[in-house]
Amino acid sequence: MLLYLLLAILQTNINGQIDPAHCRYPLGMEDGRIKNDDITASSQWYETTGPQYARLNREEGDGAWCPAGQLQPSDVQYLQLDLRQLIFLTVVATQGRYARNSGNEYARKYRLEYSRDGRRWISWRNRLGSEIIMGNINTYDSVVRDLHPPIITRFLRLIPVTDAIHTVCMRVELFGCAWQDGLTAYSSPEGQTMMAPGYPITPLNDSTYDGALERRKLSGGLGQLTDGVIGQDDFAQRRMYRLWPGYDYVGWRNESLGPGFVEMEFQFDRQRNFTSVKIHSNNMFSRGVKIFASVSCAFKLHLISEWEAEPVEFHTVLDDRNPSARYVTVPLKHRSASALRCRFYFADTWMMFSEISFQSATNVLPTQRPPVLTPPSYEVNSEVSDTTQITEDRTTPSKTGSPEEGSTSILIGCLVTIILLLVVIIFLILWCQYVCKVLEKAPRRILEEEVTVRLSSSSDTIILQTPPVPPRVSLDPPYERIFLLDPQYQDPAALRNKLPELSQSAEASACSGGYAEPDVTLCTPHQCFQSSVPHYAETDIISLQGVTGSNMYAVPALTVDSLTRKDISVAEFPRERLLFREKLGEGQFGEVHLCEAEGLAEFLGEGAPLPEQDGRPVLVAVKQLRADATSNARNDFLKEIKIMSRLNNPNIIQLLCVCVSSDPLCMVTEYMENGDLNMFLSQRELESTLTHANNIPSVSIADLLHMSVQISSGMKYLASLNFVHRDLATRNCLLDRHLTIKISDFGMSRNLYSSDYYRIQGRAVLPIRWMAWESILLGKFTTASDVWAFGVTLWEIFTLCKEQPYSLLSDEQVIENTGEFFRNQGRQIFLSAPPLCPSSLFEQMMRCWSRDIVDRPSFNRLYQALRTFAPHS
Ligand code: ADE
Repeated sequence: MLLYLLLAILQTNINGQIDPAHCRYPLGMEDGRIKNDDITASSQWYETTGPQYARLNREEGDGAWCPAGQLQPSDVQYLQLDLRQLIFLTVVATQGRYARNSGNEYARKYRLEYSRDGRRWISWRNRLGSEIIMGNINTYDSVVRDLHPPIITRFLRLIPVTDAIHTVCMRVELFGCAWQDGLTAYSSPEGQTMMAPGYPITPLNDSTYDGALERRKLSGGLGQLTDGVIGQDDFAQRRMYRLWPGYDYVGWRNESLGPGFVEMEFQFDRQRNFTSVKIHSNNMFSRGVKIFASVSCAFKLHLISEWEAEPVEFHTVLDDRNPSARYVTVPLKHRSASALRCRFYFADTWMMFSEISFQSATNVLPTQRPPVLTPPSYEVNSEVSDTTQITEDRTTPSKTGSPEEGSTSILIGCLVTIILLLVVIIFLILWCQYVCKVLEKAPRRILEEEVTVRLSSSSDTIILQTPPVPPRVSLDPPYERIFLLDPQYQDPAALRNKLPELSQSAEASACSGGYAEPDVTLCTPHQCFQSSVPHYAETDIISLQGVTGSNMYAVPALTVDSLTRKDISVAEFPRERLLFREKLGEGQFGEVHLCEAEGLAEFLGEGAPLPEQDGRPVLVAVKQLRADATSNARNDFLKEIKIMSRLNNPNIIQLLCVCVSSDPLCMVTEYMENGDLNMFLSQRELESTLTHANNIPSVSIADLLHMSVQISSGMKYLASLNFVHRDLATRNCLLDRHLTIKISDFGMSRNLYSSDYYRIQGRAVLPIRWMAWESILLGKFTTASDVWAFGVTLWEIFTLCKEQPYSLLSDEQVIENTGEFFRNQGRQIFLSAPPLCPSSLFEQMMRCWSRDIVDRPSFNRLYQALRTFAPHS
């Protein structure tokens, strides 16, 4: 239960675009997670054919639910399920009444009605408008039907349909996943039809919208923008389901709307803290379609309150070179709201969206506590066709709890939960002790059973279900154990014990060959700290620290205490001589300012690492710790200063001086005029005659290679000192006025990039898309995991930072993919070769993502290899 609760917390943070191909978990009819109380019916033939017997593959009672009497064609009898929370429902499986070969009834056809609030019921229709779903042809086979479009709902009714008079009985299972977005409705102007000479007529309406359409405005429903299907680059092409061109998109024409923007309102199930919204937009500029130029979102705390005065505004970088449809991520600055109103401003004649997804955490407990839908503990992919019988494997619990009315019952519920929690913790501790002993004796088995992940190939007909293996010994899902919520996760050594293969093969190289790191696994942290080699390459970070923006490089926990101001060997600069110019960024720790530093050149003396002045004032970047920082944050800040003061390399940001004799603590570094590499590249195109002729900012492949060489050089230097960066990415590489790259660590100091980080509530903030599998699964950060991140950074560079790594995977799926990297059974998803990237360079990237760290190249080798690609570097 503890793990379920923790997983619930995790789930509130795992918010990405939903992928219907993977959202196919059994919801709990078969295994009983859907409780009898939540299964009702309009009628039942006998007590023994009541709704509680409508569980797929089960044979209790008389073996199925059967409505009273014989079903007439005009009858509406239904089986109703309350899923207790909003679910993205993708698949329905039905069976007839087998009753150990004595049953004879089944539903040949059925239809569905659903309701998100229990009041308004909506009839489901497929994409071509048909309500009827073909059901069973005998009493025993499960017939599995994909729902196109999927349904976002809490309540579902299955209504058997008959052409003649029949007795019908049904058993069912539903498949899907929790609807994390929490979006319950959006409203927008009605989509329009594009008619252009020489092109097919392209209706861009929201054809699956389930709300109301009045006076050309959609309201109160969900539709194509939340069906998990993203549109193609060329919207005019037909896609699956024999649909019409433009089907995937909802589109609007600028002039027809008057104000130059499309206004959409979004309503949520409860108050949430929003980090971002991702809008999948078409960009076929040759046909007058572009992503929006800017967006302004207003927030409402409660549905009945006023819109707050201060909207969040965001300007996009328009792109009329690359016609690919893309996700545009709009940061929402952690604003709390239960409704948003966003105005998307046109950049061209048309704007077309195919999907909108919100990333948020729920920050207010609902008055009715929704149960937690957790993923099954393990599953394999079983490719089933639309009429395949589902295997009889057991699935594990995924749903707990029920709603309680009123505060007394909530209180009682809480108390009972706490007591049960305590009992389960004690049980788990005892159990753990027992199982750990067993595991020591049976390492291979636990390896296979525990390391189970859910992401797999994206077929339309994959159901994620339990594998045909003997029941597991474990009570808690391995998903949690292997992933971030493992209570033992903080102690990678413990997990290593449980995964002995790791320590023998994949991990071995971290401690020996390949990298010049001291083998700290062979000594206590204290001994290592005392060794003469710089000691920051941690093969054994005790606690998983996140990236905070005030941690520059990884430092064993021990050093934190050992730092004092006295250790800082960099000069104290009089703070009154720092003249504020502008704010460069801000983050949790404080702010980064651009300042003029009066007399800094004289202060630092000959040979100071300052750019030529040409009579201009010296500009510096000043990172300032916020006044109310905790003592931990202060410690980290001082620690960062100490580490930076030891670094001196042309490709590493240079600390110039500090102001630490009074508050607020400041560190002063060189100012990099061209900002960060991510921003720099995302605003540029690949050099061509076109970019030259039109004065479009561009970069050449040679520039990209030169950048890569510089980063590898900086990292080679860090690795030679056994420093582990832990957050290498283009956002953390800065460019000076000559386009020299310097590695820095200000990722989190700018909220701009917060969607690159995955936040575990109350714990670490992790750049999961850049992290090696062993960093995510074991909390293990080494130079070899920096090499992995370097591979991702190369990938970013050669995609010109136009896309986030694994942009089609949600954060949860990225973590799942990590498990596939560990298992190495060929199911891991690699970043694909960027079109601009020479194949030999992509091979280097792939080496960086080797499962075994001995197989990853060292920075020295990468540097040498990259130099051969870029001979002038
Ligand atoms: N943003 C954060 N640090 C910076 C620096 N040193 N130069 C320019 N922009 C920055």
